[in-house]
Amino acid sequence: MSLTSKSVLVTGGAGFIGSHLVDRLIRESPSRVTVVDSFFLGSMENLDAARAAFPDLEVIRHDASDLAAMQDIVTARQVDTLFDLAVIPLPTSLTYPAWTVQTNVGIATTVCELARRDLIGRLFHLSSSEAYGSARYIPMDEDHPHDSITPYAASKSAADRIIESYVQTFEIDATVVRPFNNIGPRQNPGSYAGIVPIVIQRVLAGQPIEIFGDGEQTRDFIFAPQTADLIVAVHDAPECRGQVLNVASGTETSVNDLVRRILALMDAPDHPVVYGPDRPGDVRRHLADVSKMRQLLDREPPTLDDEALAQTIEWYRGVLA
Ligand SMILES: NC(=O)c1ccc[n+]([C@@H]2O[C@H](COP(=O)([O-])OP(=O)(O)OC[C@H]3O[C@@H](n4cnc5c(N)ncnc54)[C@H](O)[C@@H]3O)[C@@H](O)[C@H]2O)c1
Repeated sequence: MSLTSKSVLVTGGAGFIGSHLVDRLIRESPSRVTVVDSFFLGSMENLDAARAAFPDLEVIRHDASDLAAMQDIVTARQVDTLFDLAVIPLPTSLTYPAWTVQTNVGIATTVCELARRDLIGRLFHLSSSEAYGSARYIPMDEDHPHDSITPYAASKSAADRIIESYVQTFEIDATVVRPFNNIGPRQNPGSYAGIVPIVIQRVLAGQPIEIFGDGEQTRDFIFAPQTADLIVAVHDAPECRGQVLNVASGTETSVNDLVRRILALMDAPDHPVVYGPDRPGDVRRHLADVSKMRQLLDREPPTLDDEALAQTIEWYRGVLA
């Protein structure tokens, strides 16, 4: 089940997690690596390390929901495994809900069609813990109900259902990896930025940090390169084939605690923090049940240590300077 000498394709490979996955895949010595990205977000710079390590990396600027084009792309490259990470993110769905839903559902349907038509060997789709909504119980296992709050979450949940339907009806070979909150270098610092880039940016600019709500909302944070590592481990483990798997640390951290840790590492423990209204659709609690991952992969979940946070801060210092 190894990726060595395989032709792999990553949709959304110029994005945050996608580019870390491309770096990680290259270490497996695949024969061919192709990225399909629309560059709605993401950037070529995110792939600098990958291009240095694998000069034949092919980057195709295209919409991954375009079935005719994707059919041509995968056929010409005889793709063994397609990793589907292309997405329109949560904050965009608050401004452009219909387009976000149509695009995210369109991408999932397209990659399922490629599998149904036997044009790819295996499909790995990235779901999101957002599909669960706020925790009804803690920790949240893979069977936790989908109480999607935002249009983004609904599109992620719908994508999961579409994949499940293709597995049931057409027996496509699909595995769903469901990460919780990722942090790390290369997370878009511009429009639609996440909490970590915003905090670092505010400290560097000498502006107060604004937190939505009381900051006691919790998340299960994981370092993106560790997510990439786990995706490869899931790929290689025959026991994981066809499964839906949470990928997370199994540790609950409040936004206030995360901000405190970042401020301490930036030598700015007293930096002003102001609290605003709740963000529409913000989930209250998130903590993954990682027992399935622990059992199937026979490894302990990763923890978000200060070294990972420090690397993240350093990266933002570089791009925001
Ligand atoms: N970041 C997180 O914390 C997190 C948590 C859970 C799940 N996920 C999932 O992981 C995957 C990757 O997320 P990310 O955080 O790296 O997002 P990202 O926005 O950094 O990357 C997504 C990439 O997809 C590209 N893209 C958007 N629409 C496209 C289209 N129609 N065709 C081709 N490319 C398109 C963007 O340009 C971008 O480069 C997504 O499936 C997301 O739902 C992310």
